[in-house]
Amino acid sequence: MKRDLLKVVNLTKSFGGVRAVDEVSFEVAEGEFLGLIGPNGSGKTTTVNLITGYVKSDKGKVFFKGKDITGKAPYAIANIGIARSFQMVRPLYQLPAFKNIVVALRSPRVMKEIRGGKYGELDDIAIDLLEDVGFERDSFVPYKLASALPHGYLKRMELARCMALRPDLYILDELFSGMSMSEVAATMFIIEKMKQGGKTVIMIEHRLRELFRVADRVLVLNFGRKIAEGTPKEISESNEVKKAYIGVEVELA
Ligand SMILES: Nc1ncnc2c1ncn2[C@@H]1O[C@H](COP(=O)(O)OP(=O)(O)O)[C@@H](O)[C@H]1O
Ligand SMILES: [Mg+2]
Repeated sequence: MKRDLLKVVNLTKSFGGVRAVDEVSFEVAEGEFLGLIGPNGSGKTTTVNLITGYVKSDKGKVFFKGKDITGKAPYAIANIGIARSFQMVRPLYQLPAFKNIVVALRSPRVMKEIRGGKYGELDDIAIDLLEDVGFERDSFVPYKLASALPHGYLKRMELARCMALRPDLYILDELFSGMSMSEVAATMFIIEKMKQGGKTVIMIEHRLRELFRVADRVLVLNFGRKIAEGTPKEISESNEVKKAYIGVEVELA
């Protein structure tokens, strides 16, 4: 049995009268690929915000590599090895795409490894990372201001930014939303490579067909509560999960 990389215990958060996250507990083992699904408003993003320090919990604990990291600031969490992408992209719009990646490369976590690099080395690494997520290398695209990039590029830049941090855990929040079909297919190829490379990933995704292809285990939230947990096959056959999705246009893969 591999050790738990992340352990979440009884996480709870209310906004006014809404219990966005309600006593949620789960673990992610090293090298595991966990899918996190649930209807809109079921508390997925809030769960990610609680883990990564963007929102303070009312109750509950987050452990990473056995250490209590509850309530730590987002930069501290990134620096100990959790990288998250944002469902609603928030790039540095006034910077060129590759400089957005350089900012991530400048985190203490990465600089420890590439200290003493040659002038311009970070720019080169950033452009390589953008090429990995499908930015055409011999074009002007990596040099364009983030504000001039189409949404699908910004979503893929989010993934490159996460990869730049060389994290031990990736949390991807609806990475595919707003991408074209061909962008989804190309990004899925990267996700499959990450899985083959043994990366630990929590992936929030509405495209269940794609998600179920890579997920080892799937956790389902509904109204802030964990209502099911199991293999993609178990989840796609669960009546309780189907009930939670009634009225929502999803086809359980
Ligand atoms: N900052 C916030 N202030 C008030 N309510 C919020 C805030 N963030 C989320 N919520 C509410 O919490 C619930 C869960 O939202 P969210 O975590 O974004 O769900 P999901 O990501 O599953 O769609 C929703 O009812 C949402 O309106
Ligand atoms: Mg969300």
